[in-house]
Amino acid sequence: MKNNQLSGRIKWQSPSNIALIKYWGKKGFQIPYNPSLSMTLSEARTETELIFTPKSDNREISLTYLFGGLPQSEFEKKVKSLMELLLPEMPFLADYHLEFRSWNSFPHSSGIASSASAMSALVLCLCSMEKILSGEPIPPSYDADFFRRASRLARLGSGSASRSLYGGYVIWGKTHHVPDSSDEYAIPMYFEVHPEFEQVSDTILIISSREKKVSSRAGHELMLNHPFAEPRYWQAEKNLIRIIEVLQKGDWTEFARITENEALTLHALMMTSNPGYLLLHPNTLIAIEKIVAFRDSSHVPLTFTLDAGPNIHLLYPKSSVHKVLPFIQEELANLCENQQIIYDRTGSGPIQIFGP
Ligand code: DP6
Repeated sequence: MKNNQLSGRIKWQSPSNIALIKYWGKKGFQIPYNPSLSMTLSEARTETELIFTPKSDNREISLTYLFGGLPQSEFEKKVKSLMELLLPEMPFLADYHLEFRSWNSFPHSSGIASSASAMSALVLCLCSMEKILSGEPIPPSYDADFFRRASRLARLGSGSASRSLYGGYVIWGKTHHVPDSSDEYAIPMYFEVHPEFEQVSDTILIISSREKKVSSRAGHELMLNHPFAEPRYWQAEKNLIRIIEVLQKGDWTEFARITENEALTLHALMMTSNPGYLLLHPNTLIAIEKIVAFRDSSHVPLTFTLDAGPNIHLLYPKSSVHKVLPFIQEELANLCENQQIIYDRTGSGPIQIFGP
C-alpha cells in the first residue's frame, strides 16, 4: 500500500573515495570519457540525516540543508538542482518538505573534496525514503539494485560520488575489459584483490586548504578542446587494465608506477589546457621529491596520488606503517598547512545509521 502521508527520519553515513585511475573529462549528462577506478576511504565521510514531513502543495521542491548545524547556501543550491533533476523519477519529492542535516568527519576547511561523500549520503537518504513510501516491508531490504540505482543518481550530482556507494575498489565507466561496467553507474570490484591491497593506508597531507582557483567542473570542461584528450583517454584505459592485474597480483612497484603516472598526468592536463592553470603548491613538489627519495633509499613501497588540488594522498601497505609514520612526522609534516594530516585507509562503504 502506498502511503504519502508519512513523516520519517533516515540517516546514512557515506565515505569519500580517492581515484587511482582518474575521471577527467565528461560528455552529455555526467558521462565520463574514460573509465576510472577508486579506493573507498574509511575515515573521510559524510553523515546525512533526512527528516521528511508532508506538505500541502506538491508543485515545488522544498528543502533546507544544514551543514555542521549551519545553513550552507552553496551546497543547498546544488542539492536543489539535483532534486529537480530527479523529480521525474522520484515525483514524491515534491510532496514533502525535506530537511537535511549533514556533518563531515573531516575538517570542512581541509581542502578534501566532500562532494563524493555528501552526494552519495544524500542520494542514499532519498532512495531509502522512496522504499519507505513504497509500502514495502519495513525494514526495507537494500539489495544490489538499490545501490546500483543510488550510484546512478549520485553520479548526476557529482561523477566521483557514483563510486562512493561501495567499499574497497570501485570502477565507474564502460569498458569492454570489465564485465558489467557502465557509464551510468559504478560497480564494486569483480575479482578477488590480493591480500597486499585489501587494506591500504592513505595518509592525506593537507598542503593547502585554500579553495581551488579552478573547480573540477571547469577542469572537466577544459578537456573538451584539449589537444591531449584522445591520448589521455587511451592512457586511462591502459592504466585501468594494468592496475586491475596489479591489484590481483599484489605488485606494489607497478602499483606505484601507475598511480603516480595518473596523478602527474591529471596535473599535466591542467597545465596544458587552454587556458592552462596550476593547482600544485611549491610544497607539493618538495614533498613528492622527498617521498620518492625515501622510497628509493628505504625500499618501503610508499607511493602517492593527487586529486584536483595541492594535497597529497600517501599510499602504503599496513605492514609499513612503523617505517612510514616517522618519515611523515620528520620530513613531511612541516610542509603541511598547520601540520594538518588525515590518517585514512581502505573503507568498506556506506552504512545506514538509522532508518525504518
Ligand atoms: C580529479 O566528480 O568532482 O577527483 O562530476 O563535475 O562533480 P563533477 O566532478 P568530480 O571530479 C573528480 C575529479 C577527480 C578525479 C576522480 O575523482 O576521478
